[in-house]
Amino acid sequence: MIGVFLILETLIMSKAPHLTGTSSQTSPASAPSRPMALLAPDVSRALALFEADKRSDALALSLQIVEQGRMGLPDACVLSVLMRKLDQAQTADALWANVADGLGQITEAGEGSVTAMLDTAHILADLEALDEVETLCRRAHEVAPNDEKTLNRLLAILTHRDNLPEAQAVAEAFCERNGDRFEILLYLATIFSHFDAKPAVVRFLDMARTRCKTKTQRAKLNYLLAANGMPVSDLDQHGMAVEIFDNFAESYDDKLELLGNRGPDLIFAALQEMDLPKSKKRRVLDAGCGTGLCAGFLRMYAKEIIGVDISVKMLEKSRAKGGYDFLARTDLSEIGTYPEGRFDMIVCADVLVYFGALKTVFSNFHSVLSPGGWLLVTVEDEEDPAVQSGFRLHKSGRYKHAQGYLLSTLAQVGFPKPKLLKQARLRNEMSKPIMGTVFAVQKSALSFG
Ligand SMILES: C[S@@+](CC[C@H](N)C(=O)[O-])C[C@H]1O[C@@H](n2cnc3c(N)ncnc32)[C@H](O)[C@@H]1O
Repeated sequence: MIGVFLILETLIMSKAPHLTGTSSQTSPASAPSRPMALLAPDVSRALALFEADKRSDALALSLQIVEQGRMGLPDACVLSVLMRKLDQAQTADALWANVADGLGQITEAGEGSVTAMLDTAHILADLEALDEVETLCRRAHEVAPNDEKTLNRLLAILTHRDNLPEAQAVAEAFCERNGDRFEILLYLATIFSHFDAKPAVVRFLDMARTRCKTKTQRAKLNYLLAANGMPVSDLDQHGMAVEIFDNFAESYDDKLELLGNRGPDLIFAALQEMDLPKSKKRRVLDAGCGTGLCAGFLRMYAKEIIGVDISVKMLEKSRAKGGYDFLARTDLSEIGTYPEGRFDMIVCADVLVYFGALKTVFSNFHSVLSPGGWLLVTVEDEEDPAVQSGFRLHKSGRYKHAQGYLLSTLAQVGFPKPKLLKQARLRNEMSKPIMGTVFAVQKSALSFG
């Protein structure tokens, strides 16, 4: 079962990894696993029995623990919820009264107590005990009102329960106290954008506008403004990508799992489906290589793997893993970085979602591919018939491309029809699949000029 927090964390990161990924402070907790260590072993066991649908065993053990008396606050919270779910309302109420007492006594914003409250809320969220989750998150935020994690968790539960007015009030109050932080303003805009709360989005973006300090911050902000339908005079793809990924590099691999990103897996599956010989003869370009997640499987197909990316921080991650023969900082939109025909295969996983028009990038790919060379790409699908002829920037800050547009643009730069063109789930957003296309196209072996 996907917990409330996990849903919101997934949402926020997948909508705008560039926002939450930019700072470990503004980002929601990155660990999706439940913080079970804070429970006493017996309570963990009772919970496990309940979740395994062994209700009578869970009840017997829970009653035994309650009878023994002394327990910590997280244990009391979990037991109270278990008792309620096991139809022991009276015991549940008595336990919760103790919890309320205990919560009232926490006045110090000590890291330990706040973390314990939020971690307990995380466990209860998985049990769908939303009232109890809300109580814990409210208290944690009262105790530590300037802590971004308590803000994040309280917003998570309020928005999950459709209490947008209060979520907005909480966010506004936070900004009044801490309003000079650019990243948090973008993060708040992202949350409210998801819930179509346009006035709140406009308000937070306006505040962010006045706190923009660097050119790349401006680029990122402009993308978010445009994604929310606000007029922007220019979009600086290069600056936006640098700002996002230089800041996202550190946590990228961890968060990928949470987002269920499948770009590299889909490229690998496409290679297998086409049954390309695993001859180690090819010169392969990983275009937008990021932290190097494609390098492992590419090695089976390559004698040489070159990784390029616009983000130095992402390239550093790749370098540390050691999967490439050569890495370079390159903008895929710039022409002439490599000599014609330099590569026998190009892969481009989950990169073109950051580009609108694709003609320049495809044309660059075409020129650096050798005759008969392969290009394998993933994109997000634009399904709105109104944009069938092109592409659109979505609130996520990512572009979706219509299939018709892809095919015509490939043809314009000289590629034939793709040999493989497949719809697939690219990642999850709010636990729903985001669909995309993986395609493989082979440059003609002969060209008649
Ligand atoms: C979502 S990551 C995907 C990374 C990798 N391909 C993977 O699948 O794990 C997108 C990558 O595209 C890179 N990128 C975005 N715009 C770029 C550009 N104009 N030129 C080169 N790389 C770019 C980013 O820096 C980032 O590393």
